Amino acid sequence: MKIAIIIGTRPEIIKMAPVIDEIKKRNIEFSMIHTGQHYDHEMSNQFFLDLELPEPHFNIGVGSGSHADQTSEMMKGIEEVLKKEKPDLVMVQGDTNAVLSGSLVASKLHIPVGHVEAGLRSFDKTMPEEINRMVADVCSEIYYVPTEESAINLISEGINPKKVFITGNTVVDACLRNLKIAEKRGKGNSIIPEAENIITLTMHRAENVDDFERLNSIVQALIELDEFTIIFPIHPRTRKNLEKFGLYSRLMDTSHIKLIKPAGYLDFLLLLSKSHIILTDSGGLQEEAITLNVPCLTLRYNTERPETVHAGGNILVGAQKEKIIKAARKINEDKQAREKMKNAPNPYGDGKSSQKLLDVTLKQFNEGKLTIKPPEDIMGSFNRKLEVINEEITVLEFEKSRNALLRLVYDEGEPQFPHPGLNLYNKVVLFDEYL
Ligand code: UD1
Ligand code: UDP
Repeated sequence: MKIAIIIGTRPEIIKMAPVIDEIKKRNIEFSMIHTGQHYDHEMSNQFFLDLELPEPHFNIGVGSGSHADQTSEMMKGIEEVLKKEKPDLVMVQGDTNAVLSGSLVASKLHIPVGHVEAGLRSFDKTMPEEINRMVADVCSEIYYVPTEESAINLISEGINPKKVFITGNTVVDACLRNLKIAEKRGKGNSIIPEAENIITLTMHRAENVDDFERLNSIVQALIELDEFTIIFPIHPRTRKNLEKFGLYSRLMDTSHIKLIKPAGYLDFLLLLSKSHIILTDSGGLQEEAITLNVPCLTLRYNTERPETVHAGGNILVGAQKEKIIKAARKINEDKQAREKMKNAPNPYGDGKSSQKLLDVTLKQFNEGKLTIKPPEDIMGSFNRKLEVINEEITVLEFEKSRNALLRLVYDEGEPQFPHPGLNLYNKVVLFDEYL
């Protein structure tokens, strides 16, 4: 089997690193295609060094530009490489423009796409990432979803549950493994202050940093939170906008706020692990916060990671100054509230996500299920039905006896993933019965 891995930005490098390690361990042939969307040393190369990754085999070098510019250049570059490489599977990760381009190109070449971190939904179509992940999920043949909640998002959109695998999130693998390495090497000391009350802050989301009102409101909250030491590794997009809006020097002049360059992964993980609060609009940081037991305040009004909020480890504070200040102070002053957030259970798994991901990939491939064929080869016509089940029967048994594909199970009104061994007694099922 030959796998092509497409990456383009910092979080994709981090979250695919454990998958690449696992691919190498199993001696699977692979090639790595970097779109070149992130190109500064500290946004790309640094992570290859920290995570001991091989050089990408191809770099398309798209650089910065509008969405259309980036996407079209990536599509052309990826098409050229895939035509030459002819992989059996293309893996994309997350929701960036690389994911959009890679999944579109591969599926049109009839190369199956595996979407790592599939099924996340913010239900906010103003976010470019929401469009990217939805398109990727339309194009994919195998879905590696972090949680049951994301599996249900996919199934509700009509995706076949047999192609959906709950693997956890590879960020947990990356985070746990590399924190240990960082601790051993004593990394991070240069960016970790002596202070007790550390807030680690990151933001780069277009809806926050491209908008003066929102960015200014967040900056005013930071200035007022002077009982904390705020470490702020600045994403290049954010730095440019802070300068453009005249806010950069305001932050530079505030002694409890330390502006630093984007940090390497080992340094950054150690900083996170020593933080009192993580204040962020990043997707990956919401996941890492709950993995490292650090309370998270998310500078957004919605999240495609609702599990972190439901578990109690994350609060959405938006971009409103008063709300940000109030939430940070509550965590600082109310020990019980703080402990509750710190002890929130991690919904993203145990750090074995990349192993699970490769197990299911090989199984599907070896069973001949990673192919793109015209529909008449796959199924005939069917009736879609909803039924209450009054007998002790598992999902597998039901499917066999009824010649059906079970799509979703409702347990007292709550949707549930149709795990093969699930007992359907007293549950409502949605299924396709083949004629
Ligand atoms: C991209 C992803 C976003 C992801 C983020 C991770 C899309 C649509 N967005 O956003 O989902 O959360 O990466 O960090 O794919 N720049 C540099 N140097 C670099 C890269 C960028 O200076 O190495 C500057 C450029 O001015 C560029 C701006 O940052 O215009 C934004 O970069 P871009 O890659 O378009 O999007 P991100 O905001 O990084
Ligand atoms: N990160 C890092 N150094 C930094 C900021 C972030 O190593 O200075 C890591 C962080 O630990 C996480 C990932 O980058 O794993 C998140 O990337 P980002 O916030 O850019 O993207 P998102 O997750 O929002 O797509």
